[in-house]
Amino acid sequence: MTISVSRHRESAQLWTCSSSRYNGSVPFQIRQFLKADFDTLWQIDQACFDPQLAYSRPELAFYMRRPGAFTLVAETAEILGFVVGEARRKSGHIITIDVIETARRTGIGSALLQAAEDKLRYAGATTVALETPVNNDAAIRFYKQKGYFVEKTVAGYYSNQMDALVMTKELAHLQPAQ
Ligand SMILES: CC(C)(COP(=O)(O)OP(=O)(O)OC[C@H]1O[C@@H](n2cnc3c(N)ncnc32)[C@H](O)[C@@H]1OP(=O)(O)O)[C@@H](O)C(=O)NCCC(=O)NCCS
Repeated sequence: MTISVSRHRESAQLWTCSSSRYNGSVPFQIRQFLKADFDTLWQIDQACFDPQLAYSRPELAFYMRRPGAFTLVAETAEILGFVVGEARRKSGHIITIDVIETARRTGIGSALLQAAEDKLRYAGATTVALETPVNNDAAIRFYKQKGYFVEKTVAGYYSNQMDALVMTKELAHLQPAQ
């Protein structure tokens, strides 16, 4: 996968990535969330998760608006996926990462996670943590492939019905600007 990243002026608050792997050679971009995206993101989340795990509209809006939270969107002509993360001082948190089914295994999740980790690093995070259902084999494999380790299991994390794995990763130090 080819990922190009451009850092915008001042604070690295804006990142643009593209990969050549989606649909063979169709590039996609990663950009900041816009208000008009919200319904599409919510529908993607509904399609990605069982009803007991998917966020309601207010829940998704709540997480996206938390202090330090950010949402990045991957798109071509349509939105292919998104990631919601939040920076909490030295620790970052991935709240969710969702890729539409037809676009999976083409590098979009990887590019979204990389962009989110880059934002967290710029916000000063040295570690990143996330939760995933213990039965979400695809996500667990994905995160392990990205360098995350299982830290612990939290019983009944999802509505007291499903256990979660807490997975964490150390973020590499920022390289000085060239
Ligand atoms: C998990 C998810 C975000 C991965 O997104 P993706 O765009 O398919 O991921 P990538 O194509 O970048 O995959 C990178 C690597 O992760 C691993 N991986 C990803 N999906 C996998 C799967 N279903 N089975 C095994 N390994 C997988 C592979 O090593 C893959 O590399 P490869 O395709 O060269 O073998 C996506 O499957 C998804 O949106 N699932 C539904 C929502 C979800 O469960 N999100 C996680 C919330 S906790």
